[in-house]
Amino acid sequence: MIIRSAASDRLGQTFTLPGDGILYGGDYNPEQWSPDVWLEDAALMQQAGVNVVTLGVFSWGRLEVADGVFDFEWMDRVVGILHDHGIAVTLATPTAAPPMWLINAHPEIMTVDASGVPTSQGGRLGWSPCSPVFRRYALRMVEKLARHYAGHPALALWHVSNEIGNENGYDYGADAAAAFRAWVEAKYTDVESLNSAWGTGFWGHTFSSFSQVNPPRVARTAHNPGLLLDFDRFTNDALLQHYIAERDLLRTITPDVPVTTNFMVMRGGGVQDYASWGDEVDVVANDHYTIGSNGLRHEELSFSADRTRGIAHGAPWILMEHSASSVNWQGRNASKAPGEMTRNSLAHVARGADAVCFFQWRQSIVGAEQYHSGMVPHAGPDSKVFREVTELGATLRRISEVTGARVSHGDAAVLWDQQSYWAFHSTRKPADDISFHETPAAIHAALSHHHVATDVISPSEDLAGYHLVVVPNLYLADAELAARLTAYAGSGGHVLVTYLSGIVDPSGAVIPGGYPGAFRDLLGIRVDEFYPLFVGETRTVVTTSGATWTVSDWTESVELVGATASASYTAAPLAGEPAITQNSVGAGTAHYLSAVLDPEALDSYLGELVEMAGIRPLASAPAQVEITQRSGARHDYLFAINHLEVEAVVEVGAAAVDLVTGAAFDGRVAAGAVAVLKVEQRIE
Ligand code: GAL
Repeated sequence: MIIRSAASDRLGQTFTLPGDGILYGGDYNPEQWSPDVWLEDAALMQQAGVNVVTLGVFSWGRLEVADGVFDFEWMDRVVGILHDHGIAVTLATPTAAPPMWLINAHPEIMTVDASGVPTSQGGRLGWSPCSPVFRRYALRMVEKLARHYAGHPALALWHVSNEIGNENGYDYGADAAAAFRAWVEAKYTDVESLNSAWGTGFWGHTFSSFSQVNPPRVARTAHNPGLLLDFDRFTNDALLQHYIAERDLLRTITPDVPVTTNFMVMRGGGVQDYASWGDEVDVVANDHYTIGSNGLRHEELSFSADRTRGIAHGAPWILMEHSASSVNWQGRNASKAPGEMTRNSLAHVARGADAVCFFQWRQSIVGAEQYHSGMVPHAGPDSKVFREVTELGATLRRISEVTGARVSHGDAAVLWDQQSYWAFHSTRKPADDISFHETPAAIHAALSHHHVATDVISPSEDLAGYHLVVVPNLYLADAELAARLTAYAGSGGHVLVTYLSGIVDPSGAVIPGGYPGAFRDLLGIRVDEFYPLFVGETRTVVTTSGATWTVSDWTESVELVGATASASYTAAPLAGEPAITQNSVGAGTAHYLSAVLDPEALDSYLGELVEMAGIRPLASAPAQVEITQRSGARHDYLFAINHLEVEAVVEVGAAAVDLVTGAAFDGRVAAGAVAVLKVEQRIE
């Protein structure tokens, strides 16, 4: 795998990971097993086609057995065995799990929650990125490890810590408070600017000095949204700075080894603004777990994978973790159905992953993750899971020529912005249970049902080349983004903005004069008032072409200021008022959707926009057959993932060979199967 990224460009360096195909493997935790199992593992890895493993993620306590006392002997043996079996090593800095001796000697390194309760020993992460003591110990460990393995031929990639921010997100302790004050002071310079940005006149919370600023610890009512938004930004920066400290140290010792850390791009949560991390890693790596109770979990996976590629600016990325079957942290943890793990893995590849890795290689028999699946399950290699793992390894070899091919530039873009996510969750809204992720994900799914090549990108990315740009729930927006969208539409682009977009400015203050303040002029509308609906309540809207669509959760009173109505509400209190609008902007159009359409209506509406924007689908196929395209130097590779329980007919309009079977493609994809279709490059 050849790595090209903003970070490596800055260094003027191209890194290459071993092997000429897709990387395949998983987290390997040999410290849970005896040395005879290590040998069996290496043989089984070869059998499964594994060519890389991630080692040492939680090994600090086994590598630094007491303060300043290091033991690499066991790891040397493991690395040696792996190398002898042709398996490369992604070596983790073990800082995710501080050893017992360190936590006991320095309890002040641990995060403190909003109620003042410090994190105790027994878990992992939990340390404060603002603790100078932790930083000192962590960097000493990293330096020892890097010096020890510098130049080792098995060392392919550095994996800094693990999911930084996962279990050490917000910290309200003394070190964090001091760091937050310094961060706020550096941002605002004088306390008047801070008071003005946060609007501290509200409840008379004016600060007279930066020393009065504290993290948002438990208070009996809601905190100031401006403060919460900045605390999110500060937390992200503090976590990122920890990554950068480890990365920079690694670079000085092993300049030829690329560095990454595993992101957690999936629906829900998020203390990290990964748009700010993407350019700091040499290659983007992501962990993704499906939620078993979600019947449309493959659609959430597609959205997350496209978001991950967006963070990588379209470059191939690494799927660092997913699960071979069930996880152990969802209450009821469904095992994956036969073929599901393969579809999941290939869906990530279809959307730009050049590496498919799992947590973890061998299922633990001890510890907190005993019931989390592994590539080798408790049942051993004679098992359904291991057979599918081995079959997947063979499939990845058969499709290896897709490595390096970039996912074709999207015809549509969905904008996704973490700053908006934070701002959205920082305040009490007219409907607090509206999820930030629902709208972008639903729109992405609707575009996918129409087989539109879609990118999920940060609002700062270049919009040129897209026919349709969707701005869903982009709650926080500045004038610069509004101007760029207006210029994009003016030059012939088509924009769809949804409810709860452009409401607040970058400080979190509502833009007055009617919603959506930032986008009113672009859209030619003005929203007077929000009309959220109660759970279970619905309304209907009727389109100008006579279709009747159901809406729920959210409606608005929209006034036309230049736009025309494409659909109107049918009943009180908004009877006859516009629900969906369209505005002409130069050579293009700007549309506004003021209500939550039900999935069927959303599919119809997006279908109309796709047609209007002149977008051609990647293939003709049923909605639940996922189609994507990666473009190589001479060929295109169309992935067709059949999520149906029946065979599907897929027309790609060209002669194709299915790399999975090696046979000429006859236009049919079996129930639950995946085809990877190699076609001559399709010139648009
Ligand atoms: C991830 C983590 C892994 C493992 C996995 C289980 O968040 O990085 O170490 O715990 O979850 O699903």
